[in-house]
Amino acid sequence: MIKKCLFPVAGYGTRFLPATKSMPKEMLPVVNKPLVQYGVEEAIEAGMTTCALVTGRGKRAIADHFDINYELEHQIQGTGKEVYLESIRNVLDRGTFTMVRQREMKGLGHAILTGESLIGNEPFGVILSDDLCMNPEGDGVLAQMAALYRQFRCSIVAIQEVPEDEVHKYGVIAGEPMKEGLYRVESMVEKPKKEDAPSNLAIIGRYILTPDIFDIIRATEPGANGEIQLTDALMKQAQMGCVMAYKFKGLRFDCGSVPGFVEATNYVFENVYGQD
Ligand code: UTP
Repeated sequence: MIKKCLFPVAGYGTRFLPATKSMPKEMLPVVNKPLVQYGVEEAIEAGMTTCALVTGRGKRAIADHFDINYELEHQIQGTGKEVYLESIRNVLDRGTFTMVRQREMKGLGHAILTGESLIGNEPFGVILSDDLCMNPEGDGVLAQMAALYRQFRCSIVAIQEVPEDEVHKYGVIAGEPMKEGLYRVESMVEKPKKEDAPSNLAIIGRYILTPDIFDIIRATEPGANGEIQLTDALMKQAQMGCVMAYKFKGLRFDCGSVPGFVEATNYVFENVYGQD
């Protein structure tokens, strides 16, 4: 049973400037709920009730969101407005929150390594909350992956088929098909050119990682832009042992980009808001 989920939330969110100048990208609301809360709810649903946040400068609002606001609680206690706090109260009742700061933004791999002290020597989930995932027909994406982990006991990345002219935005895998929607990873490339991409199976922001990944990241040199890429470490892990890629069931919105964020907002407003 995986109990912990890591949330790298230290990035600058430059694509949302000026909104993200003094506000964390992860606090942008999709309708009435901040992006990071959707991620935390998905982790808790998957049984990962310890949420480990890798934060950075200017991200204090995230820590405050996962804490009690006594003044506000007192103010609306006993009024009809209490209903608006229901979802976050539910999260706070079920989850535990730990935090560590990433002092320099040296990439996703580095953010995950920064979270090692909160995770320790056990398998863990990772959610990039700017990928908003929903499955209206059943278990959330991380819960689907946790079930697979119980079977395969190795790192798992979530993948999605993307149009060829979008592969350059993602880590892309090639793998041996194991069963419907499941591949054993054979190669992995970060942000390839269309002509160099091994497939159109793109890695999205959901992972289950085994703790040996920390030593592998430590030994991984920074990539072209000076960032330590998680994809490079996962490629090594795949060569040394096993990494699976799972075509998840459900929807995913790229809320790190403005069009994806607007799409998510429309979807949630029409299909989710007011119904939970
Ligand atoms: P992104 O590539 O989306 O970067 O990071 P970003 O800074 O958040 O956004 P843009 O591109 O400037 O608009 C993917 C995820 O990894 C985290 C981010 O917070 C995001 O969830 N991350 C990235 C870190 O926590 N630390 C890093 O050093 C880099």
